[in-house]
Amino acid sequence: MELMEAIQKRRSVRRYQDREVPRELLEEILEAACWAPSADNLQPWYFVALTRPEDIALLRETMEKVSEEIKPYLQEMFPRHPRVVAETTGFLRRLGGAPVYVLAFLQKDYGHTRDAVIESTAAAIQNLHLAAHERGLGTCWVNAVTGLGYGPVLQQLFAPDKGEFVSLISVGWPDHTPRTPGRKPGRWEIR
Ligand SMILES: Cc1cc2nc3c(=O)[nH]c(=O)nc-3n(C[C@H](O)[C@H](O)[C@H](O)COP(=O)(O)O)c2cc1C
Repeated sequence: MELMEAIQKRRSVRRYQDREVPRELLEEILEAACWAPSADNLQPWYFVALTRPEDIALLRETMEKVSEEIKPYLQEMFPRHPRVVAETTGFLRRLGGAPVYVLAFLQKDYGHTRDAVIESTAAAIQNLHLAAHERGLGTCWVNAVTGLGYGPVLQQLFAPDKGEFVSLISVGWPDHTPRTPGRKPGRWEIR
């Protein structure tokens, strides 16, 4: 797959088949993440891929709370779009039934500004999305968790010694073809 095609055709997938992701594929996409550029080449990220059913059940317990707590905010944001509220909370509750969830952490004592570390880790996460897409896998970047203050909960549950939790990414075989959200014009210029 051409890179431009991967960039444009990657979509956020919010429903997954009940089918395992081979370990080699997971290794490949995690490795792709680690080839991202990073400030001072610090590589300040740490990824934990959850695949065990007991871990996924634990994660979903937390996500059920996130889904409930986010509902009033969404209802306020989308008063005329109850379907958006239902779809978003539904996805958060079960996380689309994906077989894998990658948790992204900022390593402890990263020795740089927080902005640089976040930017570096975001670049790594995007690499992971594109590498997964290239292999036919779907992904969705989820940070509703941190927005509602549940980051430390996931940190404590899954990697208490790996630094600050920033995002989770669902990974699996897509069970739908997501619509393509349009891109806003006028977001760049050449001088
Ligand atoms: C930092 C970040 C956080 C996101 N958090 C969520 C989330 O919590 N829940 C969700 O369903 N999608 C989330 N998304 C996915 C966006 O909604 C999605 O990328 C956007 O609507 C564009 O759609 P596309 O990815 O299919 O191009 C997030 C994306 C980014 C980059």
